[in-house]
Amino acid sequence: MQSMSENDSMLDERLLLEAAREARKKAYAPYSRFLVGAAILDDQGKLHKGCNVENAAYPQGTCAEAGAIAAMILAEGRQIKAIAVVGESPDPVTPCGGCRQKIREFAAPTTPILIGDLKQLRLRQTLAELLPHSFGPEYLLNEPQ
Ligand code: THU
Repeated sequence: MQSMSENDSMLDERLLLEAAREARKKAYAPYSRFLVGAAILDDQGKLHKGCNVENAAYPQGTCAEAGAIAAMILAEGRQIKAIAVVGESPDPVTPCGGCRQKIREFAAPTTPILIGDLKQLRLRQTLAELLPHSFGPEYLLNEPQ
């Protein structure tokens, strides 16, 4: 029998994955045709969505996670409580290396990263699992003057 709080967090996970699926529908990816959506739950309980946005100068495109982080910052959210990423691929679509670092700026090592597809949750990892021994803002404060 699951406790009430386990049920609640499972519901939150489903809602977050569903928000990422909604965002994925808006992706602009005419070059890769690989659509990705992301959704962040912030410390205020607010949801922020993002999708990948490509352009003709291929490397200049932006990932779904970057869009969701930008939306969170614009809404004055500062802490990622959980983030969901949704893409369709044989293997779970985990955040790219650059996005792991972007998430690192606003998340704790234990922050859950939910990787899903159109049907289900495929993988649940913490930030520290995806980006171990990471560099972050606190390092910059420790430089001897
Ligand atoms: N992409 C994301 O948006 N997020 C990821 O975590 C992996 C890759 C995008 C970038 C590009 O528009 C497309 O997927 C193919 O790499």
